[in-house]
Amino acid sequence: MNDMTIMAVETSCDETAVSIVQNGSKILAEVVASQISTHQKFGGVVPEVASRKHLELINVCVAEALQQARLTFDDISHFAVTYGPGLVGALLVGVATTKAMAFAARKPLIGVHHIEGHIYANFLLNKNIEFPVVCLIVSGGHTTLVKISEHCSYQFLGQTRDDAAGEAFDKVARAIGLGYPGGPKIEEAAKTGDPFAINFPRSWLEEGSYDFSFSGLKSAVLNYLNQKEMKKEEVNINDVAASFQEAVVEVLTEKTVMAAAANNVKTVLLAGGVAANSALREALNKRCDQLGMKLIYPPVKYCTDNAAMIGAAAYYRALQGQFSGLDLNAVPNLKFGE
Ligand code: KG4
Ligand code: ZN
Repeated sequence: MNDMTIMAVETSCDETAVSIVQNGSKILAEVVASQISTHQKFGGVVPEVASRKHLELINVCVAEALQQARLTFDDISHFAVTYGPGLVGALLVGVATTKAMAFAARKPLIGVHHIEGHIYANFLLNKNIEFPVVCLIVSGGHTTLVKISEHCSYQFLGQTRDDAAGEAFDKVARAIGLGYPGGPKIEEAAKTGDPFAINFPRSWLEEGSYDFSFSGLKSAVLNYLNQKEMKKEEVNINDVAASFQEAVVEVLTEKTVMAAAANNVKTVLLAGGVAANSALREALNKRCDQLGMKLIYPPVKYCTDNAAMIGAAAYYRALQGQFSGLDLNAVPNLKFGE
């Protein structure tokens, strides 16, 4: 079979990313232009600003990716792009650019679901993962547990009923004055805090449910802060961060290993921005070890948004002959599994 040399584009939120990935795992180029410093002064991602930044950066990133790989457009066999979910204006920049490239080069186009991309960050670095696996996807918009028995096919086990795990990290970070991006800042503050200083609630939901709920925990943190303020007592930010993180990690870890055990699965994958969290990695590693399960997660830079993961997912879609037409559109609220 001919090599598949895929140029992948990811612009769903605040990273303009272009990568060139061969056969799902050989990364020939990766360019990520982060907009963090632009959005930091606003305390979060401003959609209009994000779209404009993507527009400014996308062509530069494409040119740089080709240069890094020492390739020209003629060497690219397929073009892939995240088409949802995400910010509509941001997605549109990636979708329009990639469609134009595929059209001009007369090469196939592959639209990729952002969450499938996160899952495939695992396969990018390890093509030989054996099915079945259970994958916990924890990002800014998703907290989802799926069982995967073959490529690109998902059995849904559970998901969040309210806030996503990353969203909870971001909201709590804002409440304790740590700002954006919340997850890494909470992780940093938690390192010098006591995870058992405050007993924040764990939401287990009904027995046997693999769904999640983080809004109660978020409210408990806000109540704790309000009460401290009313009593004019000092708040130890590091203890709040550590205790909050401990509550999130415990529920994510236990539900994931319970779901794997109940489905007779011995391999657990971790994906999405929150998978970068070292407390979560350590806790899951420990529980998987105890239960004779194998835990796999991508290096930190492939947990958060990047285009290499989109190139990996696109490879498996292309192997199944699944391509998109030039009428591909950005779908901001694209559901996973549709
Ligand atoms: O996957 P991602 O980069 O973008 C989405 O698809 O949403 O995930 C971003 C989320 C944010 O909520 C961010 O705060 C969180 O992942 N995150 C973390 C860490 N790094 C990023 N959460 C906890 N610990 C981290 N180290
Ligand atoms: Zn993401």
